[in-house]
Amino acid sequence: MSLIKWTPEEFGTGIEQHDEEHKHLFGLLNGLHASVGTGERASIARSLDGLIAFVAQHFAAEEENMRKVGYAALDQHLVEHNKLVKTCINLQQQFHAGQAVITEETTAFLRDWLKQHIPHIDRQYGPALSAIQP
Ligand SMILES: [Fe+2]
Ligand SMILES: [Fe+2]
Repeated sequence: MSLIKWTPEEFGTGIEQHDEEHKHLFGLLNGLHASVGTGERASIARSLDGLIAFVAQHFAAEEENMRKVGYAALDQHLVEHNKLVKTCINLQQQFHAGQAVITEETTAFLRDWLKQHIPHIDRQYGPALSAIQP
């Protein structure tokens, strides 16, 4: 079963580019969750690395768009992004060093972070970013 499901009601930001990225992100997180379920280390490693790489890519895309429009709450948004990136990089390093395991607790933490960040922080950029929507 999927860990997280994108719906416009819960996660729509009004910015198609970022909605599509969020859907992709959810797919990657569900993939990691499934890998954790199999318990296969190689599969967990692939899923984890893919997810974290895309998180960085997605954050960069949001930040670029927020900068483009001179978004007022950019600094607050950056603090949230940077905090998660730091956590992810630590986790990734510890996992690859054999010092940490990725469990359902890890995927639940990431799910909860997204469930808090997207509706409450990302959604706020909708009106500002709609100005540069293609
Ligand atoms: Fe986002
Ligand atoms: Fe964000």
